[in-house]
Amino acid sequence: MTTATPSPMTAQPGRPLSGRVRVPGDKSISHRALIFGALTVGETRISGLLEGEDVLNTGKAMRMLGASVEQRGEGQWTVHGVGVAGFAQPDGVLDLGNSGTGCRLVLGAVAGSPITATFDGDASLRKRPMRRVLDPLARMGAKIISAAENGGLPVTLQGARDPIPIVFETPVPSAQLKSAVLLAGLAAPGETVVIEEEATRDHTERMLKHFGAQLRVEKHGAHGRRITLTGQPELEPAPVVVPADPSSAAFPLVAALIVPGSEVIVEGVMTNPLRAGLLTTLREMGANIEVLAKRDEGGEDVTDLRVKAGALKGVDVPPERAPTMIDEYPILAVAAAFAQGTTRMRGLKELRVKESDRLATTAEMLRVNGVEVEIDGDDLIVQGKGQVAGGGLVATHMDHRMAMSALVMGLASAQPVGVDDTSFIATSFPTFLPIMRRLGAGFV
Ligand code: S3P
Repeated sequence: MTTATPSPMTAQPGRPLSGRVRVPGDKSISHRALIFGALTVGETRISGLLEGEDVLNTGKAMRMLGASVEQRGEGQWTVHGVGVAGFAQPDGVLDLGNSGTGCRLVLGAVAGSPITATFDGDASLRKRPMRRVLDPLARMGAKIISAAENGGLPVTLQGARDPIPIVFETPVPSAQLKSAVLLAGLAAPGETVVIEEEATRDHTERMLKHFGAQLRVEKHGAHGRRITLTGQPELEPAPVVVPADPSSAAFPLVAALIVPGSEVIVEGVMTNPLRAGLLTTLREMGANIEVLAKRDEGGEDVTDLRVKAGALKGVDVPPERAPTMIDEYPILAVAAAFAQGTTRMRGLKELRVKESDRLATTAEMLRVNGVEVEIDGDDLIVQGKGQVAGGGLVATHMDHRMAMSALVMGLASAQPVGVDDTSFIATSFPTFLPIMRRLGAGFV
């Protein structure tokens, strides 16, 4: 559990950023590598695993459920799995800390095993909606023994002895929800179908295929997908190479765009189309982002990008782009504040249920630093003036991405920007501070 004492910090405007960076492994893929590894029979080798608190908590949960999870070197891990539906009864509470992904995916995996487990997390995770996952899992035969009044954590779930395959239309665009149902569907006989109106990140689908499951992905409507999984496969261990996390790369990338005179190379940025909405948006804003080299890493397309500071202009970000950049809105809002003109980010309802209410916290982060900002329904509207006053203290609400976004903002604003707590950065990007300092960032 994340119990670190608050660690305040101030970002100082200063010299241009320069250098070459590579951010740690992708958080979504890292969680999945541990969970799918635990559901195979045999040894899965993982390289480039993100060693952030969220992922380490998922690793601990897999151990408590009977898998063996070992670190062999930096980013090098092995998992000896127990097979689909093979989890053992855990001896204690599964504590997923700050992580919605870890919690919801493990709920799905446990729903297909004949065991009972209690899930808990920190104060932020306890506030987040779990009913969206528990409802379909109950349809599949899992029993919710207890849940908090809001339907959230702590939750005790009894997995189904004979899971039932279902056809499930996701009520919200959520890769976590889709993945939970597919994970439970692994243990069910016949076909489990997930239909999403808007395609969300497809790492679960890619990894299921990688481990030998039978899975069909078809188009559904204008932006959606229909995923059909054949249950009860014998998952085969296969090595996983985790590419760098584009959601972490977003911070040095935007920092280089807004700190005058900067030039930074960010290596190995994953360009999976379902994760690349920020790059599309920044290019529309006129960002100077050059593709240096493209290659394949672990089955994902990645590129090295050269980013140079320069003028940005406000844009209208369509709602259908949201699933492809859902975690990048706080840092996009920072870029928008330094742009000239209005940026309207549409359809951000899901931001309200992230590690914090990110619609409110993003608006507040900008407001306390002198930026004109408005929330209109589910849209965030930022009036870019080409510069930001700064001088504010940002409340991060146990949210790693708010802390990193505010610190990046302070590197380019007229006055320093303070954040109340940087400790949660360790959940997703434990090397954020040293990496940014190497580029020349002034954090005190
Ligand atoms: C994730 C899905 C997204 C995202 C989260 C990681 C995943 O959440 O915000 O950081 O790995 O599946 P939702 O599925 O709730 O949109």
